[in-house]
Amino acid sequence: MGPQGRAACSLLFLLQALAEPAENSEFFLPGDYLLGGLFTLHANVKGIVHLNYLKVPKCKEYEMKVLGYNLMQAMRFAVEEVNNDSSLLPNVLLGYEMVDSCYMSNNVQPVLYFLSQDDYFLPIQEDYSQYVPRVVAIIGPDNSESTKTVANFLSLFLLPQITYSAINDELGNKGRFPAVLRTVPGADHQTEAIVQMLLHFRWNWIVVLASGDDYGRENSHLLSQRLAHGDICIAFQETLPTPQPNQTMTPQDQERLEAIVGKLQQSTARVVVVFSPELALHNFFREVLRQNLTGAVWIASESWAIDPVLHNLTELQRAGTFLGITTQNVPIPGFSEFRVRRSQVGRPALNRSSANCNQECDTCLNTTESFNSILTLSGERVVYSVYSSVYAVAHALHSLLGCNQSGCRRDVVYPWQLLLEIRKVNFTLLGHQIFFNEQGDLSLNLEIIQWQWDLSQNPFRSVASYQPSKRQLKHIHDISWNTPNNTIPVSMCSRSCQPGQKKKPVGLHPCCFECIDCLPGTFLNQTLDEFDCQPCPSSEWSHRKDTSCFKRQLAFLEWDEAPTIVVVMLASLGFLSTLAIVIIFWRHVRTPVVRSAGGPMCFLMLAPLLMAYTAVPVYVGPPTVWSCIFRQAFFTLCFTICISCITVRSFQIVCVFKMARRLPRAYGCWGRYHGPYVFVACVVMLKLVIVASSVLATTTMPTTRVDPDDPRIMILSCNPNYHRGLLVNTSLDLLLSLLGFGFAYTGKELPTNYNEAKFITFCMTFYFSSSVFLCTFMAVYNGVLVTILDLLVTVLNLLGISLGYFGPKCYMILFYPERNTPAYFNSVIQGYTMRKD
Ligand SMILES: *[C@@H]1O[C@H](CO)[C@@H](O)[C@H](O)[C@H]1NC(C)=O
Ligand SMILES: *[C@@H]1O[C@H](CO)[C@@H](O)[C@H](O)[C@H]1NC(C)=O
Ligand SMILES: *[C@@H]1O[C@H](CO)[C@@H](O)[C@H](O)[C@H]1NC(C)=O
Ligand SMILES: *[C@@H]1O[C@H](CO)[C@@H](O)[C@H](O)[C@H]1NC(C)=O
Ligand SMILES: *[C@@H]1O[C@H](CO)[C@@H](O)[C@H](O)[C@H]1NC(C)=O
Ligand SMILES: *[C@@H]1O[C@H](CO)[C@@H](O)[C@H](O)[C@H]1NC(C)=O
Ligand SMILES: *[C@@H]1O[C@H](CO)[C@@H](O)[C@H](O)[C@H]1NC(C)=O
Ligand SMILES: *[C@@H]1O[C@H](CO)[C@@H](O)[C@H](O)[C@H]1NC(C)=O
Ligand SMILES: *[C@@H]1O[C@H](CO)[C@@H](O)[C@H](O)[C@H]1NC(C)=O
Ligand SMILES: *[C@@H]1O[C@H](CO)[C@@H](O)[C@H](O)[C@H]1NC(C)=O
Repeated sequence: MGPQGRAACSLLFLLQALAEPAENSEFFLPGDYLLGGLFTLHANVKGIVHLNYLKVPKCKEYEMKVLGYNLMQAMRFAVEEVNNDSSLLPNVLLGYEMVDSCYMSNNVQPVLYFLSQDDYFLPIQEDYSQYVPRVVAIIGPDNSESTKTVANFLSLFLLPQITYSAINDELGNKGRFPAVLRTVPGADHQTEAIVQMLLHFRWNWIVVLASGDDYGRENSHLLSQRLAHGDICIAFQETLPTPQPNQTMTPQDQERLEAIVGKLQQSTARVVVVFSPELALHNFFREVLRQNLTGAVWIASESWAIDPVLHNLTELQRAGTFLGITTQNVPIPGFSEFRVRRSQVGRPALNRSSANCNQECDTCLNTTESFNSILTLSGERVVYSVYSSVYAVAHALHSLLGCNQSGCRRDVVYPWQLLLEIRKVNFTLLGHQIFFNEQGDLSLNLEIIQWQWDLSQNPFRSVASYQPSKRQLKHIHDISWNTPNNTIPVSMCSRSCQPGQKKKPVGLHPCCFECIDCLPGTFLNQTLDEFDCQPCPSSEWSHRKDTSCFKRQLAFLEWDEAPTIVVVMLASLGFLSTLAIVIIFWRHVRTPVVRSAGGPMCFLMLAPLLMAYTAVPVYVGPPTVWSCIFRQAFFTLCFTICISCITVRSFQIVCVFKMARRLPRAYGCWGRYHGPYVFVACVVMLKLVIVASSVLATTTMPTTRVDPDDPRIMILSCNPNYHRGLLVNTSLDLLLSLLGFGFAYTGKELPTNYNEAKFITFCMTFYFSSSVFLCTFMAVYNGVLVTILDLLVTVLNLLGISLGYFGPKCYMILFYPERNTPAYFNSVIQGYTMRKD
């Protein structure tokens, strides 16, 4: 802009090339208000390629684009409909001027033309609020790159620009592009629709192919950003070479395409998302067909999803399933006839140096005619976006010009006024509500379409629809996949793991992993962590491949187990035999055998034995605090009583005579104060103290331990350090045993009726060695066997004393009554004394 002082100056543009437009050209319709239209009738992805001469590019040298012409016809149709409508803009004629922008090559010159006035001058001034350019609004262009270029010019004039297929989301930034409006869902939604489709068909291993231009770069970047933290991985991404304007391939391009298709052949990914203008795809798909690549799922971005020319490459059926994203189909009555309607007044009547203005397309109508059936069958998808753009402008003009039934004011329309009105429109068009949101976007649904090649069918059959407001797919129909049994093609780096299997990542992609069973004792909570098995809590356990833990089974001695039954039978046997011994001894209490065995003291031994037998059941069933104390204290106390009795008896037999002879006073005391009983009482007191302190020192709460043989089982048992207490307890018994053994050994010369050395030795040795064995065993082994063994050893010890000590005496009483007489005893003692002398 010039400095403040300058009032106005004008610049003569190099627009001489644009002569007076032809009256009845397809590209021009005179009217009270003109709309500018930018369409791609020819395409060239290389951009501006003529750097060596200063001429506007000649679009007709490039490939013709059928869809672009179709869209241009849509604009013409819409304007004609508006003009035919008696209520929308009565007595106002809407006109248009359209230019072929040939994708990107020719967009600056047309926009200068649209902005200039009738005299081809575009004045340079400070304030454009009173400036009236040639057109009141511009429809198009189709791609984002051109749209941005054009928008940069138009924003200075706030000239409304409605694009019908530029999806780049930056265009929604009203700070940068204040005059841009869109009748197509943005790239964000296009990407989301693709992602939703991938998720729906459980494809998580995809290939992305993108063209080397802005379109490919931006959209593939958007997709990879969207997938960055998700469950879908991109196996690889490749850039397709940009073709020459004349579609010939350089050898480098050919090599590159061969390499890309070769890589696709090798890949395990079967889903290929392609972001590219359709122009760059002809060579690519020819290469795909040449290499016989089959069985892929091709996902088309909106740029080529409904391209009839690519679709006409019918061999593509071999290459797999083609799905695409495009805007929804809104049938427009009368349009398919209009598309191929020839204007009565043939070619341009006036002589225009049209070579540079790109307002010609000789072949368009004939080519479109040849595609008419496919275009008719495929319905009006992007067409509706163009159609609604024109109507949006018409409705804005309607309110700006204050139209009523009879007519409109024929005011001068400044672009910025119209822009404000367009942003406010809200009307219904063919059943759809048309209004622009804050970003200047119109909310149209997207559709997923599948390519079909059956004649007389819609070549782009809708299989699902996507609602931008909900961001999810709806109305999903069946898709014919061309696979055996029509199963959905699988495109996964790794099959999903079964429940209870953890993922072990392979390589860099989170989608690639091995499945590894969780080991017993661990489980997999998928919601928590898919890559690690969690250990079970200590009271629980799991099998291989479990998704949760179960409570370990509690194990303890039970009544119905074989070892329990055996031991209990042994115990009852012991009890009965001990009872028998008690009865026999009671009946023969005055006989010498009983008296030599200790007399009344025998009953002191037999009573705890009987009690111990009856207490055996405390080992069976779940242990409690009391049964644990009982096990640790009661049995050992019984033993101590028995052993102290035996010891004191041995002492009496061996030493009493000597004591009587050598220490008569001590002997007197021993006899008078019931020495044996005092001794036993003392020992028992001592034992009680030891047992009590041992119980206090260690816990008596039942504890659980894992069965070392079977981790599914928890053993419920008494204090696991019980064996230490056991040794302390046993130490007193050991001392008594040694004492008793010592006495018995010194008295081994005594007559057999008095000599119990053998039995005592046997009992004591067994008691002691079994205790040591039990302690050792407990120290190294923790299984359920411990309890059984403990019980067995206890019962065997009881039996040892019952049968080992009392058994032979009962035998004597019952079977040799003749030896159980004082006379016989006297004779034996006499014999012994004589031998000794
Ligand atoms: C507009 O009206 C004319 C004359 O009635 C008719 O021939 C033409 O088909 C109409 N155009 C549209 C698009 O409706
Ligand atoms: C196509 O264009 C390239 C460079 O633009 C040129 O080298 C080549 O000769 C052209 N081929 C044809 C058949 O025109
Ligand atoms: C593709 O298949 C055709 C016939 O089925 C065969 O002639 C041709 O050699 C194959 N091409 C490649 C690259 O395998
Ligand atoms: C058309 O224009 C060309 C040059 O642009 C000129 O040579 C020719 O005579 C003109 N024809 C008519 C019928 O005006
Ligand atoms: C288009 O087709 C018509 C007949 O259908 C023919 O007369 C005309 O020459 C063709 N135009 C071009 C440019 O091929
Ligand atoms: C489609 O391609 C075939 C050959 O590949 C061609 O003959 C036919 O004309 C094409 N159809 C159209 C509508 O161009
Ligand atoms: C229509 O508008 C014009 C001016 O805009 C006005 O003069 C005329 O009275 C209006 N007619 C009706 C029916 O409102
Ligand atoms: C447009 O009009 C419809 C009905 O007339 C209304 O429900 C809707 O809210 C309007 N939208 C806006 C953005 O004003
Ligand atoms: C197809 O389905 C049939 C019957 O449902 C089955 O026997 C056959 O194995 C299936 N084939 C494949 C490739 O899945
Ligand atoms: C998995 O973890 C989640 C979150 O911590 C929890 O809500 C869910 O209950 C767990 N599932 C199982 C089976 O443990």
